[in-house]
Amino acid sequence: MARRTIWLVGMMGAGKSAVGAALARRLGRRFVDADAEIEARAGRSVAALFSEEGEAAFRVRERAVIEALAGSDAVVALGGGAVAQPGARERLTASGYLVWLRAEPRTLLARVGRGEGRPLLAGLDEAGRLARLGELLAAREAHYAAADLALDTDGRLVGELAEELAARLGGKGRQGDALGGAERTVPVELGERRYEVRIGWGTLARLGETVAATGAKRALVVSVPPVGRRYGAAALRSLRAAGLRATRLEVPDGDRTKNLRQVARLYEAFADAGLDRSSVVVALGGGMVGDLAGFAAATWLRGIAVVQVPTTLLAMIDSSVGGKTGVNLKRGKNLVGAFHQPRAVHVDAALLRSLPRRVLAAGMAEVIKHGAIRAPALFELLERDIERVMALEDPGLVIDVLEQAVAVKAVVVGLDEREQGLRVLLNFGHTLGHAVEALRGYRGVLHGEAVSMGMVFAARRSEALGIAPEGTAARLAALLRRAGLPTELPEFPRRAYLSALGVDKKKREARIRFVVLKGIGEADTLPLLPEEILPPAGLAARQRGAQGRAR
Ligand SMILES: NC(=O)c1ccc[n+]([C@@H]2O[C@H](COP(=O)([O-])OP(=O)(O)OC[C@H]3O[C@@H](n4cnc5c(N)ncnc54)[C@H](O)[C@@H]3O)[C@@H](O)[C@H]2O)c1
Repeated sequence: MARRTIWLVGMMGAGKSAVGAALARRLGRRFVDADAEIEARAGRSVAALFSEEGEAAFRVRERAVIEALAGSDAVVALGGGAVAQPGARERLTASGYLVWLRAEPRTLLARVGRGEGRPLLAGLDEAGRLARLGELLAAREAHYAAADLALDTDGRLVGELAEELAARLGGKGRQGDALGGAERTVPVELGERRYEVRIGWGTLARLGETVAATGAKRALVVSVPPVGRRYGAAALRSLRAAGLRATRLEVPDGDRTKNLRQVARLYEAFADAGLDRSSVVVALGGGMVGDLAGFAAATWLRGIAVVQVPTTLLAMIDSSVGGKTGVNLKRGKNLVGAFHQPRAVHVDAALLRSLPRRVLAAGMAEVIKHGAIRAPALFELLERDIERVMALEDPGLVIDVLEQAVAVKAVVVGLDEREQGLRVLLNFGHTLGHAVEALRGYRGVLHGEAVSMGMVFAARRSEALGIAPEGTAARLAALLRRAGLPTELPEFPRRAYLSALGVDKKKREARIRFVVLKGIGEADTLPLLPEEILPPAGLAARQRGAQGRAR
């Protein structure tokens, strides 16, 4: 028999089902979860089978499922003990490839939680579960180690692992996710205020589930006309189907209306709609809606729940996660605001398809930024496939990118909610980006476009300061250009830039925490004077860089 089947083995909690499903999608194969298949055939749960028939009888059923799948083109997630049964390893390797998803006991413990539905962990407290996982791993390790391929999963994302496996198994390219609906969840770990970012394709119809899970009874959907017109009715339908009393309203579009006047209007609408402490505001839109509706929710009755439903790429991977809300004043942007974490973030990536191309590209600048500062695998994925990602035709691929980009923000926010340290790294490219926006009077340049130019500038400075290896800035610029983004700062006199930097951080003599790259995927901050950020030679070097490419 030819070796065709892909068998995923490893401990419970290693991620076999999630990675298996994602891998199958990429390879255009069928995915089978062996335990689910056993349950379907038996009409009983694995836990029930264990307690009613005992482990030996369960292994017989498992063996039958393996026989039925051996040699097929399925990707199969096997139960943790399957490969340790007598003769199993030979059978599996004769009919396919054995892949071991490896993880430390602590990782496994975090992923299996209380171990519900896991007979081998039944009745144990947390310390007991950890000890049992360690014992099981020790007993099975030799069997797992016979796999053709082993992959460490600690701290890694489903999409990343599936991508690597597909490449290492020599997969012949991916296929679109015809099923849609596949979902990923990225947690934002903030203790009692922990929440999840649910990322799917075509999942607006499931918004009601997400909102109902907050316990709210009443929901008000806030949107802007271009979004409300397209998606408002579907959002309301879903909320009502989930048993919520739901209404919606629109505020005028555009960043200029992210102001206190609109906040006051929202308060009136909240009062009319009778929003109380058990109600939820649903922010359906880009970052502008998220910030405005989020701020109104943060301050109404001293704070009611908000669920973010981002509809732009920037909002999906950046502004909807992390709890920053606020509005602009005439004196400056985002001067008034509050930290107010959402209860959940519900991302339907299919909504990106109606986004104007330029707005999509601007959001892609932030995705690239996340890759550049903290996620080299994401950066490399984009280097391979950015055109296909932006074509929005392969849901699985788009979801992979979103998952990885959201994870950067989620982890950073989890470690530094209030921007005391790490979170500053998300400002990569923003020092010069803000300067460009200010010099242009916030007209004619999108935030993401300004950040794109600012990132390339910062990467060139990182090279010039000897912090980043040569070629880092060129790699970054090449990727940004492929996304259709500008990479060269507009021509303004150096003193105009200097004064814009001064406006940025108030004082010329004060050092700015400038975010530098140490390489693709790693960032740091340096306290620099504006003069050091923009040395007289800095602009000249920039010009040389531009000419260098033109030659
Ligand atoms: N809170 C944060 O952490 C944070 C971070 C970054 C940016 N922001 C804020 O986010 C805002 C920018 O957000 P943005 O880039 O999402 O812009 P945006 O919200 O202004 O949306 C851009 C345009 O796209 C339209 N649109 C949105 N979704 C659409 C869809 N699915 N189909 C068709 N059209 C759609 C909008 O109506 C708007 O015209 C700024 O106010 C910025 O200050 C906040």
